Amino acid sequence: MTKEKFRALGRNAARCAACIALAAALSLPMLPRTEAAAAPSGDGVLVAYFSLSGSVPEGADAVTHATPSIGSTEAAAREIAARTGGTLFAIRTERTYPERHDECSEIAEQEMRDDARPALASHVEGMENYGTVFVGYPIWWYAEPMAVRTFLEEYDFSGKTVVPFCTSLGAGVGRSVENIRELCPDSTVLCGVTLRTGSADFREPVEEWLKELGIIQ
Ligand SMILES: Cc1cc2nc3c(=O)[nH]c(=O)nc-3n(C[C@H](O)[C@H](O)[C@H](O)COP(=O)(O)O)c2cc1C
Repeated sequence: MTKEKFRALGRNAARCAACIALAAALSLPMLPRTEAAAAPSGDGVLVAYFSLSGSVPEGADAVTHATPSIGSTEAAAREIAARTGGTLFAIRTERTYPERHDECSEIAEQEMRDDARPALASHVEGMENYGTVFVGYPIWWYAEPMAVRTFLEEYDFSGKTVVPFCTSLGAGVGRSVENIRELCPDSTVLCGVTLRTGSADFREPVEEWLKELGIIQ
């Protein structure tokens, strides 16, 4: 491991420890707002997620590797919503993505290169009612799909707590969390979790993670 990577890991670990301490000190849904809070936020919990299965042509099943009939990220989101009492919200794009992995991969890469903001077909009503927003997505090319950026730029997240989670075949959530912190500079962005696609179910890892964050007992 290079010195730079080692230092970066140390920085991330320190950040995560701080996140956990912060979240543990707070208890949902009574998270206090930061000094930077601009828009008032309610105490609600929103569990927003993007999943390829929600954005393929009608009638087609997403055939990403090992993706079950509902998307992996949707399965994880449902588990989080069940545990936190949060409201589920599917981030859907106006455009569809090809169900074939290699074709979808090509488009996803091009969107990243273009710093694209795919238009969204679904919109949250009453975002001001939510003080805590879980944001879930599959890892595409080691980061969050660009539609997640469209979502994060559509609303005012200042003063809210943003909790990222991802599903992937192996790539970690780290880079996407850094990106989300840049997009939401006035929010408290907790360290995210990486859930491995193909896990029998997400019950155990989700429970463990929410407990670590102090969000559930
Ligand atoms: C376009 C595309 C790019 C992907 N890139 C990665 C990647 O870089 N690293 C990785 O571990 N998995 C990658 N995957 C796999 C997905 O992250 C994984 O299958 C995810 O759980 C799918 O979630 P979903 O069913 O909710 O869409 C990619 C999948 C697609 C479709």
